[in-house]
Amino acid sequence: MQKQKITVVMAAAECAPFAKIGGLGDVVGSLPQALAQEGVNCIVLLPRYAFLNLHDSHMIKRGSFVVHESKTLERCTLYELRQKSPVRYLFIDHPLLATNTIYHPPTGAKPVETRYARKFSFFSHAVVEAVQQCRLQADIIHCHDWHTALVPTFVDQLAVLKNYPFTKTVLTIHNLGIKGLMRRDALSVSHIKIDSTPSLLEDYYDLDDKHLNSLKLGILSADAITTVSPTYAKEILTHEYGSGLESFLFRRKRDLHGILNGIDTNFFNPAHDPALPKTYSVKDWQKGKCINKRALQHALHLPEKDVPLFGMVSRLVTQKGFDLIIEVLQALLPHAQFQLAVLGTGEKTIEQALRSAAHKHPHSVAAVIGFNLGLAQLIYAGADGFIMPSLFEPCGLGQLIAMRYGTIPIVRATGGLKDTVQNNKTGIVFSRYDTGSLARALLKAISLYGKKKSWYTMVANGMRHDATWRRSADEYLSLYRSLL
Ligand code: GLC
Repeated sequence: MQKQKITVVMAAAECAPFAKIGGLGDVVGSLPQALAQEGVNCIVLLPRYAFLNLHDSHMIKRGSFVVHESKTLERCTLYELRQKSPVRYLFIDHPLLATNTIYHPPTGAKPVETRYARKFSFFSHAVVEAVQQCRLQADIIHCHDWHTALVPTFVDQLAVLKNYPFTKTVLTIHNLGIKGLMRRDALSVSHIKIDSTPSLLEDYYDLDDKHLNSLKLGILSADAITTVSPTYAKEILTHEYGSGLESFLFRRKRDLHGILNGIDTNFFNPAHDPALPKTYSVKDWQKGKCINKRALQHALHLPEKDVPLFGMVSRLVTQKGFDLIIEVLQALLPHAQFQLAVLGTGEKTIEQALRSAAHKHPHSVAAVIGFNLGLAQLIYAGADGFIMPSLFEPCGLGQLIAMRYGTIPIVRATGGLKDTVQNNKTGIVFSRYDTGSLARALLKAISLYGKKKSWYTMVANGMRHDATWRRSADEYLSLYRSLL
């Protein structure tokens, strides 16, 4: 018997290529495409940010709907992008969402600014109303990270208040470190009512503090919770990685699943990458990578010589292990021959430390503080090794892209890094988060680089690693089916 087609509405703050800052945008950009290939009807719902520059002529109006906030009725319009694609892209139009940036820093542990909190709690509420009032016939609403973590809570609340059609919810956690703490008054404007939301009642008193934690509400309300690797799904049940939410996650353990991310292997393909001076495949990577390495050294004003060149393309944040990198550079550079190329933006102290390391060691270290897609691709292709010494890493996409480009990942055994890189086969993996362990891993890479045969085998193994979305899309599909 043929299985019934499932309709999934994906709601998120980011989705490549429309609005992307990090890995969240990549995942929401490519997972729906992979699900569509598996026969799922996929609709992606995004805010119609002002910077998208989507003119009305690119859009079809799909309807309008109202969001009941505590004191006002907000009118929204739902537009669909006019394009041929197996996935439908819908945008919610409302002045609160029409901002010029996705986020307004600071985020992290501090409560988010009220207007920013309001924007995403409003978006979450609007998603639920759009699904119902514009009859999107969703079997599942799949939301991501704190920005849309309130969707399951609104669904739960509306189920009681309005007889909302029976829609199941899935919340994917890409990063537990950013929880979306909101002042309670920001939430009361949005009309979250803890006392009429069944999934929150048990915790009513616990939740009744000054700040509400969007992720916590999502974790309590969603029908299923996923995170982006099996190891991270286990890690977040512990005090060390749980970011204060471990007890809530533990209670939902039966509904918590780890499903690895894939990458868009058509986009990340060294054989067709237009950003590269020389494209290559697993058959001719030596020549290809050598030309790209010279181009990278040239672009970054590093001496064009044959020493191991390590790359990092990353948000410059503590999570990514930059404190270790800075210390290890000081310790190793006087003794070992290697180069390091870093690209990214983030915390000012890390940016400054990298700039000063580059200033002090201009022949070994290059730091480009900024976004530059072309340079990112050139680092993936031109570097010999790719360093990710993360303190925690829900999945990590950099190591997957690096392997596809024949660049050996040197990673700490945490979260998705542990699940995707095989020590001594596709990369170099170390366990402890300390400078000694990272230094030893880098020295091992430097020595391996000298032994061409082992290095070449590892490069080829990595290039053959299957990082497509297929298997993960199947796992999401089984999860959706198990909820219906
Ligand atoms: C976040 C996580 C990263 C993950 C990405 C996509 O950026 O830090 O580990 O790969 O989300 O899920």
